[in-house]
Amino acid sequence: MGSEKVIEEKKQGQALLTNYINGNTKKLYIESYGCQMNLNDSEIVASILSEQGYNTTHLLEEADLVLVNTCSIREKAEQTVRKRLEKYNAVKKINPTMKVGVLGCMAERLKAKFLEEEKIVDLVVGPDAYRDLPNLLAEVNEGRDAVNVILSKEETYGDVSPVRLNSNGVSAFVSITRGCDNMCTFCVVPFTRGRERSRDPKSILEEIKQLDQKGYKEVTLLGQNVDSYLWYGGGLKKDFKNASEIAKATAVDFAQLLDLAATEFPKTRFRFSTSNPQDMSLDVIHTMAKHENICKYIHLPVQSGSTSVLERMNRQHTREEYMELIDNIRKILPECALSQDMITGFCGETEEEHQDTLSLMEYVKYDFGFMFAYSERPGTPAAKKMEDDVPNHVKKRRLNEIIQLQQKHGLYRMEQFVGKTVEVLIEGSSKKSDLHWKGRNSQNAVVVFPKGNEQVGDFVNVFVEDCTSATLIGKKI
Ligand code: SAH
Ligand code: F3S
Repeated sequence: MGSEKVIEEKKQGQALLTNYINGNTKKLYIESYGCQMNLNDSEIVASILSEQGYNTTHLLEEADLVLVNTCSIREKAEQTVRKRLEKYNAVKKINPTMKVGVLGCMAERLKAKFLEEEKIVDLVVGPDAYRDLPNLLAEVNEGRDAVNVILSKEETYGDVSPVRLNSNGVSAFVSITRGCDNMCTFCVVPFTRGRERSRDPKSILEEIKQLDQKGYKEVTLLGQNVDSYLWYGGGLKKDFKNASEIAKATAVDFAQLLDLAATEFPKTRFRFSTSNPQDMSLDVIHTMAKHENICKYIHLPVQSGSTSVLERMNRQHTREEYMELIDNIRKILPECALSQDMITGFCGETEEEHQDTLSLMEYVKYDFGFMFAYSERPGTPAAKKMEDDVPNHVKKRRLNEIIQLQQKHGLYRMEQFVGKTVEVLIEGSSKKSDLHWKGRNSQNAVVVFPKGNEQVGDFVNVFVEDCTSATLIGKKI
């Protein structure tokens, strides 16, 4: 699979996560795969375990506890984790007291079966059970395997202050919702992350305040479906209709949360991910237009450009409704960048339906894209009721076609910045050259320019002189 997101997932998995808190003696090695939410969850886990005497280390060999935060979204993601377990097994031969735990979506999906399938695993913990880690570890240390995969209707870890792992000190993630109620037929997330629930805006704003005080300049608000955010005192979104009149009157939706955050922290740059076309309101788009410090970039997965495929996927909108949303975004936010997620070869996808995806891409000309061949996930509605009948070579061919088209559009979008000045938040040195800074503009395009006397975390204006399909190249003005 050639998508950027997969490469990104691998990089995240191999990232070195090191953090040191005084007085702690035990060593935790934690590795994360999959989405940004998983990275943020690992930070929550590191925080819970720092209270238990653990500092994180990037040296697997010296770890007392190894945790792998897993992803189930595609079969390949699960295979990657199985490979890592083989590696841990080899290390355990040298360091036999080392304990190994599996966290996240694969833990939730496979539950105690994991202990049978992978002998090396001592601990299986689902995404809503991290507060139970101290008890589970006590069991493990007494020689018993431990499992907690209970999903919650309330848990948001709102009061846990994440230990920022692998941080550049400039950008951080803040989770605002957990779980998902959408039940797209291909997707395993509703089963592994449970029901959708929102976090108290007070605790969200408090976390942003702490980040601001530590010098962070950019916050990405995270959720499986941020547009669905709704705080009315806690509990599931579906129960909102039974809430008290006071709770209803004082409820906070995503547009209001964005407005609150952007107003209270005018110097912080805000991003959010992921938006869902069926839940994104015009209010959100207007709030983005109102605040300079909300980045003009929307990741708006569509999965397919064909109404009939969207229907089989149980996405609650048609191709035309999606195009109308795009038109509204273009009208209200003319300079907004857009990106997609696409799945090729979903059950029953015909050549004509695939052509609809290509033509939708032509219509939008996305700035970025994350594209995948359909991977059937056990237990999902699609696996139960539909046939995974598009041959692999057809899925791959269609995937290549959309990747190529996306590259063309990405380059087109990047070229539009050449000759213009963009504001860049410096994140660190360019990977290719120590003499250059790397940062991103509001539209999430990577910008590289020669170093002067600026610092990481500075906002600078860069005149764009050239570009590739993935990077803008310029000089500070
Ligand atoms: N709302 C979520 C979506 C999570 S899944 C978010 O926060 O990003 C991320 C992407 O993985 C989806 O948009 C979809 O394009 C892809 N995906 C999900 N299930 C898949 C499957 N069974 N096969 C292939 N790709 C899948
Ligand atoms: Fe998955 Fe659809 Fe939710 S893609 S995460 S079920 S919005």
